[in-house]
Order: sequence, then C-alpha cells, then structure tokens
Amino acid sequence: MTTLGAIGATPQPGSATKKAFGNTPEGQPIDLYVLTNRGGTEAAITNYGGAVVSLKVPDRNGKLADVVLGYDTADGYVNDKSYFGAIVGRYGNRIAHAQFVLDGKTCTLAKNNGENSLHGGIKGFNKAVWTAKVLSTKDGQSLELSYLSKDGEEGFPGNLKVSVIYTLTDANALRIEYSATTDKRTVVNLTNHSYFNLAEQGSGDILGHQLMIQADKFTPVDASLIPTGELRDVTGTPFDFRKSTAIGARIDGDDEQLKLGGGYDHNFILRRSSDLRASLAARVVEPTTGRVLEVWTTEPGVQFYTGNFLDGKATGKGGATYPRRSAFCLETQHYPDSPNQPKFPSVVLKPGERYHTITTYRFSVEK
Ligand code: GLA
Repeated sequence: MTTLGAIGATPQPGSATKKAFGNTPEGQPIDLYVLTNRGGTEAAITNYGGAVVSLKVPDRNGKLADVVLGYDTADGYVNDKSYFGAIVGRYGNRIAHAQFVLDGKTCTLAKNNGENSLHGGIKGFNKAVWTAKVLSTKDGQSLELSYLSKDGEEGFPGNLKVSVIYTLTDANALRIEYSATTDKRTVVNLTNHSYFNLAEQGSGDILGHQLMIQADKFTPVDASLIPTGELRDVTGTPFDFRKSTAIGARIDGDDEQLKLGGGYDHNFILRRSSDLRASLAARVVEPTTGRVLEVWTTEPGVQFYTGNFLDGKATGKGGATYPRRSAFCLETQHYPDSPNQPKFPSVVLKPGERYHTITTYRFSVEK
C-alpha cells in the first residue's frame, strides 16, 4: 500500500491512502483510494468508473456503518449493470431513441436500454479508468479524477475533458465537483449513481426512510421512462415529498406513474434559491439509526430511484445481497432526454465554455 498524506498501513484520520484494487479485463491496474476525515468518517473511491465503493458514517451513537451499495472487488465493478456508486456520463439518464440533433446533424448513440440510450451508452464513464490524483484541500481530503472522452466516443461529438473532484470534508460531507470542456459543441450531463441505505448497506429495504424533496413539479414519463415533456404539479400525488414522508408510504398505490416506474424512477424539478449556489435538494432520515443525508446541488433536477431493478442476484460487499428497493438513489442532474426536449434547460456545452456543477452529500444525525 502506498500512503499519501498521513503515515500508516491503515487509514489515519485526515488522510488519504491508495491500494491496488485489481485489473480491468484488458489488464490495466485499478486502484482504491481511502479518504478519512478527522472524525473517522471514511470514503473509499476507485478510479474505475470513479465509483464510491464505501462510505462509512456515524449513527446517533457514533457507530460507523457503510451506507452505500457496492462490491469488494474490481471485478464486481467491471461486471456491474446497476451503476453502483459510479460517475455517469457523458449523458446521465435517458436519451429517447438513442439519438438527437445538434446543429442540424443527427448524433446516433447505442441503444442500451430498449430503444433508448441510458447513462452514456455501452461503455459509459462508469466503465472508464480515470487518472487519479490526491489533493489536500483546506476543508478535507480530495481525490481528483480526470478522463478524456474522445470525439465520437459512444456517438457523442467533441473531445470532452472531464474532471471530477471528490472531497471528504471534516464536517462529514462528500462533495463532488464536476468540470468539463469540449472542442466541439456537445451535450453533457454528469452525475453520481450512489445507492444509499442509511441503516447500512445490505440491511434490508429503504421503505421506512423518511424523505423530503424540494420539488413542486416532476417530469412524468412514458412506458420507456422517457419524459413526456409535461412538468406536472406534485400536489395531491405520491410525488409530493415537500413534507417529509416515508419512501414506502405510497409506493405501491395505483398511481399510473409509479406503475410505469415500478416504484419511483423519476426526475424531480428542484426549487432553487440561486442558479450559481448549491441549494438543498433533498433530505433523508433513517429513523432507527438517526442517520441523516442532505443532498445539496447546483443542478436543476434530481432522479429519485428506489432500486426497482435490483434483483438480489449480485454479490455485494461482505457477501451482502441487494434485493429490490434495498437502496435509493438521488442522482442530481439535468432532466432526462433534454437533448430532444427544447423546453427543458439546455445541456449543450460549447467550445470556450466550462461545464461546472457541484453536488454535496452531507451526513449528520437526528436524536
Ligand atoms: C437510473 C435509471 C433507472 C435505472 C438505474 C440503473 O436511475 O433511471 O431506470 O436504469 O439508473 O439501473
């Protein structure tokens, strides 16, 4: 093990260590970086897909538990189909019929989700080996991951230089700062696909977690989970999470949208206080342990997904199994299918511009 920062074979508070995590099928080595803050909170991140492999945070009694789903080995990530913990790009979420028109030219992508493109295509950013660099920043330990997505990769135009900086702060937050530049007009929508279970990964379903989402509207979908274009008021629907409500309270009702998603798998339109500064998007409380997760973001939307496609077949960390709805995701993002929906906020990045978004997962406890 190489130690970067503090000395020692096991992670020390306020340190970053690096160890070998295995190889890609092509034989390229993959590493695991463990960031630890002064309170003992720990985030392990691999440069394969930039995935958050584990995140150990305290409960109301100070007991640490790993609150994200994942795998013990690199092979788990190589074979993964659920995007556990990964950086998703170049376009997170769906693009209808795997194509869009940009500057009069049709860009054709791979259909990897029925007729649609999902999460960047067949080999998205979640399957790339990123270049990693440990940084010591003023508020914590950081890992900078860089990746050059070449012109034409998965059908997207332009060489896209991407940087993602993960920072584990001493205030128990995991901040993710995404930046990108391009040499041709392109579309970009980056997110992180962590699956959370605040009781502990592998400990059962998340239906009892209490969720608040700061959204007055959401984007209803069709049968292939593509937004219809409507921005629907959440009032009187199971999508109204403006007051904290158990995730499971309404999930199996006869709402048409919940039936289409097999549960929640929808983009919520965030109420935002400013376009430049991060706003509170969502707050989740796990009542038995008291763990609280707040999601803050500069993004206009968040995909709330209740792990409806998890089937319990993959072997998770420590032999855990992950059945349906054993975790939830809050993927901060631009709205799905924006390249084909002129009324949605634009996802076009031009040469000379810089894509820059920040999402922070803040952990705390409630008594
Ligand atoms: C996103 C999608 C879901 C599903 C997961 C990955 O959250 O919206 O429909 O594809 O990713 O399994």
